[in-house]
Amino acid sequence: MTEGKICDFTASMMSALSNCALYSEKHPIVNEFSVKAFGLLQDLYKDESVSITLLSDTLLFNDNSVTEKGIHFDNFMKKLRRKGIEKIEIRRGVTIDEFKKFVSDMASQEPLLSSPHISVGIVEVQLRAEESSLRTLLEENISKVKDTFCGVAYGTELDLGGLERAVVGLISTLKQQSNVLGVISSARTYNEYTYVHAANVSLLTMFQAETFGMSEETTYDIGLAGLLHDIGKLSLPIEVLDKQTKLDLNEWNLLKLHPVYGARYLSTLPDVPKLALIVAFEHHMNFDGSGYPDVNQGSRRQHPISQMVAISDFFDALRTERPYRKSLEVCSIVKILNDGAGKYFNPELVDNFVGALSNINVIEQA
Ligand SMILES: [Fe+2]
Ligand SMILES: [Fe+2]
Repeated sequence: MTEGKICDFTASMMSALSNCALYSEKHPIVNEFSVKAFGLLQDLYKDESVSITLLSDTLLFNDNSVTEKGIHFDNFMKKLRRKGIEKIEIRRGVTIDEFKKFVSDMASQEPLLSSPHISVGIVEVQLRAEESSLRTLLEENISKVKDTFCGVAYGTELDLGGLERAVVGLISTLKQQSNVLGVISSARTYNEYTYVHAANVSLLTMFQAETFGMSEETTYDIGLAGLLHDIGKLSLPIEVLDKQTKLDLNEWNLLKLHPVYGARYLSTLPDVPKLALIVAFEHHMNFDGSGYPDVNQGSRRQHPISQMVAISDFFDALRTERPYRKSLEVCSIVKILNDGAGKYFNPELVDNFVGALSNINVIEQA
């Protein structure tokens, strides 16, 4: 099995998957690439099967890692990660129809199921997990965010794969616990705030997105944008970030640069979805055009996902105790959100968020 053949196979698979998402599973071009991938598969068998295993940032074919990669290869790994797939085993005897069904299921937003000759190993998500195991899962994901942020702060390139795995984990957590407030964490120390806040904003924004029935892929990009919204803060002096008292005017002006720093940093990373860059830049702009960065918005409006992140950001900031103020109760934050609707926040998104909190019985319906 040569690496060239593996790359040809992943390229055909990605072309079939992309076209399936773009058109439909019945489109001739999907059929063409599925047939091509199926043909290439025949050269990849080792004994009776082909196994594809996603291990962190490495993809193993028949337990051998592949060094020669390309854009299709990376996208194939990304696709597996987003579907929560750890392992695929395709056994001899698989028919072209079974393979085409596998391609269309993989392109869809539905969970991927095993078929007679194709087994799919999904990242274990135990339904009705114990509260303690949910907490452990969440802490593991926050710890991934922490490691990535610490790396960036020390000048290492952003570990996007690590953050992508954290988003998959956060989505799993949300699926198991409908009460998002039971899931979001409290920073135990002030230093934890940056990455705990990032995870909370990600969760709260995916919670909002879910109520609009957004697709799995979109929810995923939104989760990643939530995690990265404050990444620009890592470019600020630690004395400003860690200051235990209120900021003076100079420090405040520095802090206000973090959306620009964040967007600039993310623009240098080609694999980061554009949405993350937009959200990093816009999350402190207000619905009425005020806020910062002051770009004289005029008729230009914040992206709706930036507006959702602004609500999540505000909500999480107020429910977290800071050195200079106590945390607020949910009902008090909801009142402030309602008061700011139309000025700071998109009123429809505030209504939606408050309604969603009512639906999970976190607050009483007004
Ligand atoms: Fe921010
Ligand atoms: Fe924030």
